[in-house]
Amino acid sequence: MYSALFLSLLSAIAVAAQKGDWTAAYDSATGALAQLTNDQKVGIVTGTGWMNGNCVGNTGDAPNIGFRSLCLQDGPLGVRTATGVTAFPAGIHAASTWDVELIRQRGLAMGEEFRALGVNVQLGPVAGAIGKIPAAGRNWEAFGPDPYFTGIAMQETIIGIQEAGVQACAKHYILNEQELNRGSMSSSVDDRAMHELYLWPFADSVKANVASIMCSYNRIDGVYACENDAVLNSLLKDELSFPGYVLTDWGAQHSNENSANAGLDMAMPGDGMGDGNYYWGPNLLNAVDSGSVPQERLDDMVKRILASWYYIGQDKDYPEVGFDNWQPGTGKDVQGDHATVARAIARDGIVLLKNVDNALPLNKPATLAIIGSDAFPNPDGPNACVDRGCNVGTLAMGWGSGTVEFPYLIAPHDAIKERADADGTVLTTSPNDETASATAAATAAETAIVFINADSGEEYITVEGNAGDRNDLNAWHNGNELVQAVAEVNAKTIVVIHSVGQILLESFIELENVVAVVWAGLPGQESGNGLVDILYGDTAPNGKLPYTIGKTAEDHGTAIVPGDDSYPEGLFIDYRHYDKNEIEPRFEFGFGLSYTTFDYTELTATYTDKSPGEGSPAPGGPTSLYDEVATVTATITNNGTVTGAEVAQLYIGLPESAPETPVRQLRGFQKVSLEAGASAPVSFSLRRKDLSYWDTEAQAWVTPTGEFKVYVGASSRDIRLTGTM
Ligand SMILES: *[C@@H]1O[C@H](CO)[C@@H](O)[C@H](O)[C@H]1NC(C)=O
Repeated sequence: MYSALFLSLLSAIAVAAQKGDWTAAYDSATGALAQLTNDQKVGIVTGTGWMNGNCVGNTGDAPNIGFRSLCLQDGPLGVRTATGVTAFPAGIHAASTWDVELIRQRGLAMGEEFRALGVNVQLGPVAGAIGKIPAAGRNWEAFGPDPYFTGIAMQETIIGIQEAGVQACAKHYILNEQELNRGSMSSSVDDRAMHELYLWPFADSVKANVASIMCSYNRIDGVYACENDAVLNSLLKDELSFPGYVLTDWGAQHSNENSANAGLDMAMPGDGMGDGNYYWGPNLLNAVDSGSVPQERLDDMVKRILASWYYIGQDKDYPEVGFDNWQPGTGKDVQGDHATVARAIARDGIVLLKNVDNALPLNKPATLAIIGSDAFPNPDGPNACVDRGCNVGTLAMGWGSGTVEFPYLIAPHDAIKERADADGTVLTTSPNDETASATAAATAAETAIVFINADSGEEYITVEGNAGDRNDLNAWHNGNELVQAVAEVNAKTIVVIHSVGQILLESFIELENVVAVVWAGLPGQESGNGLVDILYGDTAPNGKLPYTIGKTAEDHGTAIVPGDDSYPEGLFIDYRHYDKNEIEPRFEFGFGLSYTTFDYTELTATYTDKSPGEGSPAPGGPTSLYDEVATVTATITNNGTVTGAEVAQLYIGLPESAPETPVRQLRGFQKVSLEAGASAPVSFSLRRKDLSYWDTEAQAWVTPTGEFKVYVGASSRDIRLTGTM
């Protein structure tokens, strides 16, 4: 008795020591590795083949070390294909909350659902495409084109997912910025932009101990990402000291020895998407036998996979896989109370762009018109099209592998109707996008809300002529004409937009009768409920744009590239491009109105670094890069009349001794909720890397000497406090 108890206590301590501790996890992995044959090792690093296993990706097992076949499953906003899961707001919508607490809660809630269904690896979150090209099809899966912001969002999401006991997978690594030709095109970027823009959020992911990273379909400097020594070995494993494993995007492997020696650790789905041809499997075994792939390299792959599994604590009591990816409709209810966080994000991710004379919030209007197909449910149900590959009815996520089955989708009309019934408001409706029926409905009402949208997704599905990437930045379904027609006849026209990303607003934004514009993003299953919270003022709008909305498509300075992409814009995407070239955007990065106003006072900026040390290598790069070296503080006052939340933003301009750098770069943000009349301090902590640039000659981060410019404000252009440091 005594000794059994003692032993189980010891093993509990051993488990605790492995979980959350890379050194202990590697010790366990090394011990387990010694018990594996090369056959078993090759089985662990090679997927079992397309559709061979319950999940979208499956590995071999090793029962003698208690290692079950790993289940890898899409995607970044929930468990793909299974029923009984939550359809969370998309990454870009979580981003527009600018709320790190909500972003972490979303990660945790997603992780709990993956775990309950027995998934070992969630294929998300996404930092690439980061969104340098507004029309790119999959930007909505990620967190927007600012690397600092995306880094924080990746970190919080990964911490949440992994706290639930699920391995996160940061993807798609790297320079995978569009869908067109993604499997063949080559991207090249200068070394500074690579470090300061594209690699940056992956560095934060590694710092947050992400278990795995997915290499992308494209080539970098002519070499496929999944066999690219420079990006896998040099940048990720050497420079960032990534201790986890690299897996391929599905079918992104193109070689046996080259990929193995360049740093790939796991091939997915194993064969070429069902063709039965495996680059690895027996071929990798032969390569190891012949010496063209060193035995140590195979052992390193396995150690990385096992160490991540121990690190997350999946070696003990992991749930069985509870669904079959290839049998639609399988699964079980794992939603718990996650609708609460889904609704909070749906609500707080909404950005108010225009509001003339307090047109919003609505105050029990006598009559109200609801116009546009985007306000109404898809008559065939929210999951009518496979992988959401159509744009019918209200839009709440894009299309492709980054989707889930909706358990339900609250359409705006349905949620508004509930409120209208309670208020005694008479609704007139036009559930299509035809101008004749729209003007009829709008003429009959005091206020008209017109809904428009724009969709995009992954390249394997074409929707209304858009092969993943959008063909242009206009609203779909003649949205511009629809708004104009309504505004012709209704003096209180409110526009609500559901969109995967930036659209052009110029054809209606300045119309006098367009009194309010609400950017409702991609809100997931709680769409209508979150919108009603904002439209009726139960919550003041508190989201901010995670990208810049320009006046023309050309103003953005980037577009889908027909061949290879040499990234001529370098560091200057989104607001950095607008600032550098002094282009007036329509709505800048970080912009968003409220029903109240905020005053900014009392800026302080203090450089506190005392010991600019080298730091030791650690996940994410030298520890010194993450040391806190400066603090900026300010005071925010709600000087309006209702409770509201403000996202205070810190931008830094580097000293003149630095090479050409964006005028201002986001380096901090904090959301504070304040009652009318209340004040609160905000404090931004700057890490060494936040004040540094990548010195291409020295191949190191350098903190320039001289005067740093410090800007605190309500957006990237609405700067309220300026100082130096
Ligand atoms: C609130 O503060 C803002 C920013 O300083 C200012 O423009 C505005 O006039 C103030 N409003 C009131 C009611 O004091």
